[in-house]
Amino acid sequence: MTHKAYSVAILGATGLVGRTMLEVLDERDFPVHEIIPLASERSRGREIKFRGNTFLTEVPSSEVFSRADIALFSAGAGASRQWAPVAAEAGAIVIDNSSAFRMEPEVPLVVPEVNPDAIFGSDGRPGRIIANPNCSTIQMVVVLKPLHDRYHIRRVVVSTYQSVTGKGKAGRDALEDELTGRISESFVHVHQIAFNAIPHIDVFLENGYTKEEMKMVNETRKIMGEESLSISPTTVRIPVYGGHGEALNIEFDNDFDTEEVKELLAGASGISVEDNPSDNVYPMPLTSYEKDEVFVGRIRRDYWQPKTLNMWIVADNLRKGAATNAVQIAEKLIEALG
Ligand SMILES: NC(=O)c1ccc[n+]([C@@H]2O[C@H](COP(=O)([O-])OP(=O)(O)OC[C@H]3O[C@@H](n4cnc5c(N)ncnc54)[C@H](OP(=O)(O)O)[C@@H]3O)[C@@H](O)[C@H]2O)c1
Repeated sequence: MTHKAYSVAILGATGLVGRTMLEVLDERDFPVHEIIPLASERSRGREIKFRGNTFLTEVPSSEVFSRADIALFSAGAGASRQWAPVAAEAGAIVIDNSSAFRMEPEVPLVVPEVNPDAIFGSDGRPGRIIANPNCSTIQMVVVLKPLHDRYHIRRVVVSTYQSVTGKGKAGRDALEDELTGRISESFVHVHQIAFNAIPHIDVFLENGYTKEEMKMVNETRKIMGEESLSISPTTVRIPVYGGHGEALNIEFDNDFDTEEVKELLAGASGISVEDNPSDNVYPMPLTSYEKDEVFVGRIRRDYWQPKTLNMWIVADNLRKGAATNAVQIAEKLIEALG
């Protein structure tokens, strides 16, 4: 990759994350030579607009990927397993949003505010496949990292309040259908999501946790380079758009000053502190809608447990939780590769 504008393939370009990727590439002035929109056979030929140009959606193939410098994948783990090795072999660098490769030891799992150097191997060359973490992991590690560096985290208890858009177009449409009385027999969210909260995201595992919960444990450990960090998650789907909320209870090895915590977070990259309860100021899913930052509020000491802090964080799962993080990785790549 020696040229100054890049051919970017987007696998899943017709989906919620893929469309958000197009918006983020445009907003951030990513140097795009050509967009190569890709989706399944269902969407072949569909028009995708980018910076005033129209591109026709194609289906993935080795030939198509050979035209791409960078391939942003957001079409699910099955499509990633099938096509990421093909795209990499054809010469593209793949940034994959699915869970397919995240825990493979040789695949970098990257949040640019936390571990940007992981993009590059010891030889200074980038991985051919780079994984984007799960949305609920990304927003949590952005906040944990500066606190860990300062006070050293011993344990995190996290409960999530996750947007229906985390389950793609089908998840969003299910809420709209149910709110307008179109109740389906087979629920996309396992149960009715309208007027409900469902403590079940992805499948249950033998240990009693869901796969979504274990992603938060395993991915956080890998990104932060802390293989034994204790993380105790409960993940819950709620009927909102805009972003995922997370209530965090964080126990440190060292004591902290709450005001210093606020300053530390306010000064950290990618974080916006909105914490003024006396004026009803705290972040909500609508606060984060179409924004790139992780918003933090309700920062307060846990008075019943030593060296422990409570806080509430919110981020747009389609932006920082997916598209923005992937584009930030791509920016790091082109910065290094020129
Ligand atoms: N939503 C989130 O908050 C979020 C956050 C982080 C990561 N992710 C990950 O991003 C991926 C996509 O999520 P999404 O929310 O954008 O889902 P979505 O709205 O359902 O979109 C799925 C996209 O993938 C395409 N696709 C599906 N199967 C395909 C196949 N076999 N070959 C080629 N294209 C295929 C679809 O194309 P058609 O138009 O042809 O159906 C569509 O463009 C998933 O891996 C998800 O885990 C999502």
